[in-house]
Amino acid sequence: MSNKIIIAIDGTSSTGKSSLAKRISKKLNYLYIDSGAMYRALTYYAIQKNFISKNHFDKTKLINDIPNIYIDFKNNPINNNFEVHLNGISYEKNIRSLDVSNLVSEIATVNELRQQMVRVQHTLGLNKGVIMDGRDIGTVVFPKAELKFFLEATMELRAKRRFDELFLNDKNITYSEVLKNIKLRDNQDANRKHSPLKKAEDALLINTDNLTLDELELKLLSYINPIITKNL
Ligand code: CDP
Repeated sequence: MSNKIIIAIDGTSSTGKSSLAKRISKKLNYLYIDSGAMYRALTYYAIQKNFISKNHFDKTKLINDIPNIYIDFKNNPINNNFEVHLNGISYEKNIRSLDVSNLVSEIATVNELRQQMVRVQHTLGLNKGVIMDGRDIGTVVFPKAELKFFLEATMELRAKRRFDELFLNDKNITYSEVLKNIKLRDNQDANRKHSPLKKAEDALLINTDNLTLDELELKLLSYINPIITKNL
């Protein structure tokens, strides 16, 4: 029997979910799936097709176009990360832009898209050995995951983390627009009808405010390792 498990990491933006999931996946030799990147890729597609902009969203056109949208993951041999591909192409830089961030939570409200993404996520989890981060992983995608974490941190700290990250590539970005985006997404993600962001009852709540990534990695591994060993 395989000792591999599914690890779900949910939480608000910039709580350290993806950095931690990436590190832990490398340590355990697990697949890391960034489910947010899937919604970001869908958003990038919708922007390119003029289905969505700051002032308009043609949901019906986007839904009708679902058969033409193919989302999957492929390994990038340069950094050994599993990266999202939209119709066979990786748009890693574009999907992280603030333009995409400002529209992604609107796109993520569309239940027809969510159902399609959950199908892909289930396929990726079939053989276990997966660590997936997002908003609904412990509640909707893998409600039976062996281990679930819910990460939280204060909003200002999260905005500062995200600003520092984005500033590396875009010197025009301001802290206040990043903070505004985080507030907007927190609100949209927690209050949408389908698969809203919420802590699964059996998820472990981890506050990441005063811990370094090294400390957080150790903390999460202290929960993960006993379960993996027990499964042997
Ligand atoms: O990196 P960050 O935490 O800021 O966001 P992300 O994980 O890239 O996710 C971007 C957006 O996608 C979120 O704000 C949600 O609106 C949506 N999302 C979702 O609805 N469900 C998921 N499982 C993952 C992301």
